[in-house]
Amino acid sequence: MNIILTQSYEESAQKGAEIILSALARKPDMLLGLATGETPLGIYRCLAEACRAGKADFSRARTVNLDEYVGCREQDSYRKFMFDNLFDHINLPRENVTIADHTANPDAETERLRGFFKRNTVDLQLLGIGPNGHIGFNEPDETLESLVHVTPLAKATVEANARWFADGTVPEQAITMGMGDILRARSILIIIKGESKRDVLRGLLESTAVTTRNPATFLHLHPDVTLIAEKSLTV
Ligand code: PGA
Repeated sequence: MNIILTQSYEESAQKGAEIILSALARKPDMLLGLATGETPLGIYRCLAEACRAGKADFSRARTVNLDEYVGCREQDSYRKFMFDNLFDHINLPRENVTIADHTANPDAETERLRGFFKRNTVDLQLLGIGPNGHIGFNEPDETLESLVHVTPLAKATVEANARWFADGTVPEQAITMGMGDILRARSILIIIKGESKRDVLRGLLESTAVTTRNPATFLHLHPDVTLIAEKSLTV
């Protein structure tokens, strides 16, 4: 694992964006795996800025998102989050976006997305992490599912994500890429932000052991992972 420790979240976001932009420059038709939540917002701002300044061209790129709530309202969907925070600000063709449909039958969506990952390899997967070590909505458990699947959300995740919902009601289920789908990405970029991630970050830095009780530890199995975090979270 390549570790980059920064002085601030802004620096983490800048460095994360630089990694994405240099991958895009090398491969303009790249398939970029994207994440939602607070962590990637700074990166998305940098990507939008690069596009506005004519320093990035997403016209041939494709994206796929890690996860989506099942049966949520449009305003709470990760689809809307992605358009509001990134897609409406870069020149990525709409038809090049793949994200689970929160209104569709979840079993049909699972099949559709499993087909997508059979046919496509993610070039660079951007990840955040949950305080409990979840990656996407792969929650700590006895076993982990390797392919796209529907999953109940862990209590810790419901609590952590309630801040995004006006009425505090978080959907109970989500559809997510599996750990195998994530580990098949050619490269992985994980950004860690926030005090609540301190323990999980230290765990990743101090041990290379792998356990389904902390899905993020599976990243130790991948040959090309870059982790970016603020140095202050490690002390
Ligand atoms: P956050 O969520 O970026 O909002 O902290 C990350 C995650 O739960 O994966």
